[in-house]
Amino acid sequence: MKTTALSDWLQQRLRRDGSEPVYRQLQQLLRQAVISGELPAHTRLPSSRLLAQELGIARNTVIDVYEQLAVEGCVVSRQGSGTVVADLSAERLPTPTRARSARGRGAGAEPGVAAGAEVADAHGAAQLSPRGEALLAAASVSTRQWGAFMPGVPDVTEFPARTWMRLENRRWRHPEPELLSYAPGGGLPRLREALAAHLRTARSVVCEPEQLILTTGSHQSIDLTLRLLASPGEHVWLEDPCYWGLRSSLASLEARIVPVPVDAEGLAWQDGGPHPVPRAILVTPSHQYPLGMVMSLARRQALLAYARTHGSWIIEDDYDSEFRYGTRPLPALQGLDDAGRVIYVGSLSKVLFPGLRLGYLVVPPALAERFALGSAALYREGQAWQQATLADFIEQGHLGSHIRRMRGLYHERRQALLEAIRQHFGDTLAVRGDDAGLHLVLALPDHVDDVALARDALAAGVAVRPLSRYHADPARAPRGLLLGYACVRPEAIPPAFAVLARQVAARLGG
Ligand SMILES: Cc1ncc(COP(=O)(O)O)c(C=O)c1O
Repeated sequence: MKTTALSDWLQQRLRRDGSEPVYRQLQQLLRQAVISGELPAHTRLPSSRLLAQELGIARNTVIDVYEQLAVEGCVVSRQGSGTVVADLSAERLPTPTRARSARGRGAGAEPGVAAGAEVADAHGAAQLSPRGEALLAAASVSTRQWGAFMPGVPDVTEFPARTWMRLENRRWRHPEPELLSYAPGGGLPRLREALAAHLRTARSVVCEPEQLILTTGSHQSIDLTLRLLASPGEHVWLEDPCYWGLRSSLASLEARIVPVPVDAEGLAWQDGGPHPVPRAILVTPSHQYPLGMVMSLARRQALLAYARTHGSWIIEDDYDSEFRYGTRPLPALQGLDDAGRVIYVGSLSKVLFPGLRLGYLVVPPALAERFALGSAALYREGQAWQQATLADFIEQGHLGSHIRRMRGLYHERRQALLEAIRQHFGDTLAVRGDDAGLHLVLALPDHVDDVALARDALAAGVAVRPLSRYHADPARAPRGLLLGYACVRPEAIPPAFAVLARQVAARLGG
């Protein structure tokens, strides 16, 4: 289209009936003409003065439209040379590096596919950064999140939904704008107070409300902590075995993961041994994940002393210690720390329900303000609404009573599972870590491929997780299955275990 024709073309299309501002119509028409190629690249647009005159509209309207189109990249405005249509052709776009890489060019190229189409090659188009690739390589998230014997999942059907609904409905009658907006850095002060009071009595955590930073769960808590306290390339100790989610988080932060073995007393490092001094040490002292042992008092004190001496941070993941069967919950490691080296990570996922996505950090007083600010800067927090409901829920005593009730239910389910194991296998297969939490570990002989067994079990309708996958070196790891009993009703445990037992027996024989 010639520029002389442009005014006529626009004139015919502009509606003057007031149904849509002329400014918006002009912008849409020009944008469309550029994108469709009706106005080819490098076409010089009429000056704002001329176009305004010919269309009979204010010159400022045209100037505003040209400016907006320039911001969008549809036109280029240069002092002295006016406004020209930008070149939107693909050849002008930066060439993705993958298209030039050996893999993009090589044997995989399909006959009849133009060289330019290499960019659309499925692999190249889905290429991630090295950090992204590392994250996915460590990922182990399950496709199932419910049912026998999914580990780590509480019985969400027992959540007191009516109580929660009543608390929430009351709030909707007079919604407070602050609760519907972004949350304040660190989260809603009322929930921080309620949780601090709960943690002081239930977990012997030494804290003031300001030290609590509300998050969307342990994943985000650990991500925030390491982003703020560790640099890429620094060493971070992980228990071996450990929760798979930690490996993914650390991989994405480019931390150098150092697997440290655990023994009956918990993390078993050697001072001056093969493990480089870390920036951070991630531990589950109240209930080692996934094996279930408790870190001894002597080991706790040694770990605190180590962190103090070397300036390392201890990240205490206290994900499910409310559920102990027979003995009282153990005080948190944080309560013993007098040097401000422990970052305590807590979660509502196991005590309430994981979909709530609410967790928290307790940081030393010196870090509190900086963490609150860092959290707001990174995540632009929300969920103040749920936080307010949860604060009501805790203040009215529902959290405490729900935990007590669920402890009773889980205790019964654990008994049912232990009984089913005994009936099928007597004591030929050892059970580990059954005195706390939401799962236990069924140990298997070394010749059993626990990954293949878990796959067979899933095909038969039972979800279990292979123990070897929680180890840094699965090939040399002990074999076993993690069985979650919390989300299975007691009457459903024997039939579900019978299905699993058939798969186990088939592999044991092999
Ligand atoms: C040891 C451990 N830490 C943390 C989490 C995740 O907690 P959240 O749901 O708060 O992210 C899990 C989940 O199973 C876990 O097993």
